[in-house]
Amino acid sequence: MRTVDLITKKRDGGELTENEINNLISGYTDGSIPDYQMSAMAMAIFFRGMTPMERANLTMAMVHSGETIDLSAISGVKVDKHSTGGVGDTTTLVLAPLVASIGVPVAKMSGRGLGHTGGTIDKLESIPGFHVEIDNRTFIDLVNQNGLAVIGQSDNLTPADKKLYGLRDVTGTVNSIPLIASSIMSKKIASGADAIVLDVKTGDGAFMKEMDEAEELAACMVDIGNRVGRRTVAVLSDMSQPLGNAIGNALEVKEAIDTLRGIGPDDLTELCLTLGSHMAVLSGVASTKEEARKLLEQSIASGQALSKFKTFLAAQGGDADVVDHPERLPSAKFRIEVPAKEAGYVAAIAAENMGLAAMLLGAGRATKESVIDLAVGIVLHKKIGDSVRLGESIATIHSNTESAPEALAKIYESIRIQDQPVTPPPLLVGEVK
Ligand code: URA
Ligand code: CA
Repeated sequence: MRTVDLITKKRDGGELTENEINNLISGYTDGSIPDYQMSAMAMAIFFRGMTPMERANLTMAMVHSGETIDLSAISGVKVDKHSTGGVGDTTTLVLAPLVASIGVPVAKMSGRGLGHTGGTIDKLESIPGFHVEIDNRTFIDLVNQNGLAVIGQSDNLTPADKKLYGLRDVTGTVNSIPLIASSIMSKKIASGADAIVLDVKTGDGAFMKEMDEAEELAACMVDIGNRVGRRTVAVLSDMSQPLGNAIGNALEVKEAIDTLRGIGPDDLTELCLTLGSHMAVLSGVASTKEEARKLLEQSIASGQALSKFKTFLAAQGGDADVVDHPERLPSAKFRIEVPAKEAGYVAAIAAENMGLAAMLLGAGRATKESVIDLAVGIVLHKKIGDSVRLGESIATIHSNTESAPEALAKIYESIRIQDQPVTPPPLLVGEVK
């Protein structure tokens, strides 16, 4: 099988067979197919797309390019959640203990990654003592014991995806829906998920800014999952403004604790209840979404969800007392208010720009080597639709420098205030099964 023949086949709109895709991915992983041929293939896929069979075959070929995590020693249906990423997205920190508290086993493999704030692991590491460097055996034992554990991402997971993603990044082929869908799904499947709930974001702060593109990506991932025997559901949610109020690592941990206590922001709470209900149904803990939602709400009200979070933190070396004493979390030296320059109604809080403001404070990573400041970030006091008085604080900047002019300017740039009342954008904008 000559690689050039596969490239021309795809270039001319043909469908690659399972065998051809397997050969392509194993050859690319072991280095026998060079980057320049894979670049041409990625570009051909970018323009020609892939059939549903091709997408599923590509996903599984990438799954089998490296290690796969065997979670069969954990009883029950293991449901994983994935978010396509946004700004101030604290969902995993809330969802994991919340669904675990009603009996959904959560065996979460999580990464650090690049972004406006850290990944789930960075956020958790703002809890003194907490660590994710545990071996696979301990990981599985902890899930069996407590219903919940988080482990760092294995370096050997989907090496084909790692290599291909790097190549796409420099060849103008990131933005291909079949390539994105298979990339995301391969990692979820390799990390052992039996079923998958996807949170596909749309709007300014999302990877897919347009609703139709987000829908197409969601449908593509759901089709892949279901085709390869992993029941998959996608929720489409708004990312035109940041989720919740906090953007920053320790600040988001505090926000997650509030949400588990039942006093979190409405949007974050609603998204967690929605995603959690899907997870509970897929795992068989509840038979309908309505029943699942009741269980989740009861768990928050009774303190069960919060107590699960404490158990989980302590089991991985963390100081569980931070839950009752959030002042023990890393805290920035300075608070800088952001007073409204006019009165009216908040019409926009551009999510991506707010993320960049948090990044300027040091909350995120620009490169893999960047060191994150866990304490810094932004807490919003207003969301789209809220009324605001002249001089009233719209947000507080948590900074480790006495002034933060660049971040402040970015925040002002993100916020639009108008005279007429504004209807807030709906949080939940679609669902694909
Ligand atoms: N995230 C991924 O994991 N893969 C992509 O291709 C795009 C976003
Ligand atoms: Ca948040």
